[in-house]
Amino acid sequence: MSTTGDGTRAVRAGLPEPEQYEPTLPGPVFAAHFHLSGEPVGPYTYGRETNPTWTHLERAIGELEAPGEQVGTTVFASGMAAVSAVLLSRTRMGDVVVLPDDGYQALPLVREQLEAYGVEVRTAPTGGNAQLELLAGAKLLWIETPSNPGLDVCDVRALVEAAHAAGALVAVDNTLATPLGQRPLELGADFSVASDTKGMTGHGDILLGHVTCRDPELTAGVRRWRKVVGAIPGPMEAWLAHRSLATLQLRIDRQCTTALALAEALSGRTDVAALRYPGLPGDASYPTAVRQMRRFGSVVSFVLADEATAERFLAGLRLVDDATSFGGLRSTAERRARWGGDAVPEGFIRFSVGAEDPEDLLADVARALDEAAR
Ligand SMILES: Cc1ncc(COP(=O)(O)O)c(C=O)c1O
Repeated sequence: MSTTGDGTRAVRAGLPEPEQYEPTLPGPVFAAHFHLSGEPVGPYTYGRETNPTWTHLERAIGELEAPGEQVGTTVFASGMAAVSAVLLSRTRMGDVVVLPDDGYQALPLVREQLEAYGVEVRTAPTGGNAQLELLAGAKLLWIETPSNPGLDVCDVRALVEAAHAAGALVAVDNTLATPLGQRPLELGADFSVASDTKGMTGHGDILLGHVTCRDPELTAGVRRWRKVVGAIPGPMEAWLAHRSLATLQLRIDRQCTTALALAEALSGRTDVAALRYPGLPGDASYPTAVRQMRRFGSVVSFVLADEATAERFLAGLRLVDDATSFGGLRSTAERRARWGGDAVPEGFIRFSVGAEDPEDLLADVARALDEAAR
């Protein structure tokens, strides 16, 4: 499968060998336990440890994360379950962990937890590879690129090289890019982590996360953690996720193309400030993004004059839901400062581009901006 294109890989990812009279993608297996006599040896024993529906999905994600390679993927009940599985299972009292200070807004909660366990946490911004300065003595480096919501990008290869030289493992939160946009393991990272609630599944109807590693020992640690905390996805969610992966390339290509068109349109407007899109030539992230990304994501961010203008804009949109999250087929946008967790201005908009016709979406945005400015 390694020589095929992304679309071909996506539609077949993780499917079992064809069997007469069996479906292409077997349905969800609802089981708390499996028939098991004698020694309790797998593959399927108890439902908190393994499930055939996860196995198919984990193979599929692995094929997208590292085409043609043997990797281990572990699926979780949510992105945060996957994030915590790496950060909390790998660290011990006295360890040093380097986090971004501009990452997903729940990361500071994990930081608090790490510090409560006696872990030293250092933070630096994603842009400018600022985390490079903090690696001496570190055990784990956590990268989020592009960062959410600021859309800054750091040089994964350079950070991995420095972290490994310092003896630290590297995890990349790849939520925004998805494996079709960026393959962290190819860039040298030890863990590729994502919230699959977003672009990976793309329908805005399930929460899910995953961790993929090359090193079987690292995978075993992550799996052990899942068993300990029980942060497992339901079989229905896992099956829906697998079904959604078949359209990943179609969705992501459409969303990325429209996101660039939206960014280009916004760049010509005087009422839009601090526009960010990593795929926009001229964006501060672009030079690094083109070297390590294959698609630039569905999220565009920008700043409007103030809170009231931003709220008028959001209320004026007809084709875009005022909602959080991103990566879905239906465009969403939100005034990010309403949550209070990100260092962004009151008028900061995080806009997630969906699969609508580009001309309809761009017209809707232009009209809502014109009306909000009045
Ligand atoms: C970059 C990033 N990582 C992790 C998460 C957490 O994912 P979940 O909401 O699926 O737990 C999110 C959620 O928005 C995210 O944006």
